[in-house]
Amino acid sequence: MALLPILHYPDPKLRTKAKPITEVTDTLRKLIDDMFETMYDAPGIGLAASQVDVHKRLIVIDVSETRDEPNVYINPELELLGTVMQAEEGCLSVPGYYEAVERVDRIKVTALDRNGESFTQEASGLLAVCIQHECDHLDGKLFVDYLSSLKRTRIKKKLVKLQRQQAHS
Ligand code: NI
Repeated sequence: MALLPILHYPDPKLRTKAKPITEVTDTLRKLIDDMFETMYDAPGIGLAASQVDVHKRLIVIDVSETRDEPNVYINPELELLGTVMQAEEGCLSVPGYYEAVERVDRIKVTALDRNGESFTQEASGLLAVCIQHECDHLDGKLFVDYLSSLKRTRIKKKLVKLQRQQAHS
């Protein structure tokens, strides 16, 4: 397994719309394993392939405290249920920032698993929020897009400055 570099906002590659996966192969399963390793190492609770510069419709999630409940969603299709609520979100592509975002508290997702088998899952709470957040990545959307442009610009400026400092150190 290998750790994959994570793209950081405002990298324009994060805006790419991911393409559907047509075949679940061993190469894809290797990518899934690498994405889990990268996510656990970061550490984070979810990662979309878009964040590691692979523009395919694939997300991995583990919201368990014990870090032993890996969930894979290939070509996820979301149905929003429940009511709108505010939840605090962060993102491995927007390091260091946590902001309240409006999401629904319950969803239904249909996807393929790592064996290419179709499944449907209903989720609520943190898992529901995380699935919505990761699916946004596949459409090139980030949680900062839900914030005011003032807040978003401030975050962008600080991250650009940080990236410049890291590039020079
Ligand atoms: Ni994210």
